[in-house]
Amino acid sequence: MQISPSILSADFANLESELRRIANADWAHVDVMDAHFVPNLTLGLPVVEALVRVSPIPIDAHLMIEDPDHWAPQYAEAGCQSVTFHIEAARDPRSLARALRTAGARASMAIKPGTAFAPYEELLPELDMVLVMTVEPGFGGQSFMADQMPKVREVREAVQRHGGEVWVQVDGGVSADTIEQCADAGADVFVAGSAVYGAEDAAAAVEALRARAIAHRH
Ligand code: DX5
Ligand code: ZN
Repeated sequence: MQISPSILSADFANLESELRRIANADWAHVDVMDAHFVPNLTLGLPVVEALVRVSPIPIDAHLMIEDPDHWAPQYAEAGCQSVTFHIEAARDPRSLARALRTAGARASMAIKPGTAFAPYEELLPELDMVLVMTVEPGFGGQSFMADQMPKVREVREAVQRHGGEVWVQVDGGVSADTIEQCADAGADVFVAGSAVYGAEDAAAAVEALRARAIAHRH
C-alpha cells in the first residue's frame, strides 16, 4: 500500500522543501498538464528534471498531455521512476509502454472517468500500473467520484487473471474519508494532493492515509 502525494497542491515557489515534507511517502506524484489534453497548464520537462535532482523519493510522473508517444519517454530518460500516459491521448500504447520500460521507468496507463478499461485489458503485460482517475483530470481539490470504484475492481480482477505484478493507482479526491473504499476495491497506490499538502503536518497525513489503506487491504 503506497502513498503518492501530488505536488499540484504544494507551494510551487518552494518545491524542494515541499518535497522534503513528504519524504516518508513512497512516491512524489508530479502532474504535467499542457493546456490541451486538459484545460490547465502546470510544468514540463525542465522542471521535472530539476525535481528528480532534489527529490528524496522517486518521481511518479502523471502526464496529462497530448502526444505522449513523443514526450513520455523523455520523462523516463530524465529519471522519473514511474511514467503514466493517458490512453485517450496515446497513438501506439504498446510501443509507448515498451519505450518507457526500455528507458528504465515503470510504464503506466491512465484512464479518465468516462473511458472504459475493457478495450485495453490486452495491454496489461506491457504495463506496471493502471491509474483509474477518480476525478476529471485537470485540477486538484475536486470531489471524489465513487462511481469509479467498479472500474477499480474490474482492473484489479483483470490483473489477478493475468497474474502479473501490476499496481492499481487511484488519483483525485483521495482523502481519509475516501481512501478506504479505494483500498476495498483493490487499489494499492493512492495519490493525494489537497489531503496531504492541505494538512499542517504533511508527513502525518501520509502516515494516516497509509494506515487506513492497510486496514482495508483488498
Ligand atoms: C488531477 C491530478 C491529481 C490532483 C489530485 O488532474 O491528476 O493528481 O493533484 O488532487 P486532489 O488529491 O486534491 O484531488
Ligand atoms: Zn495526477
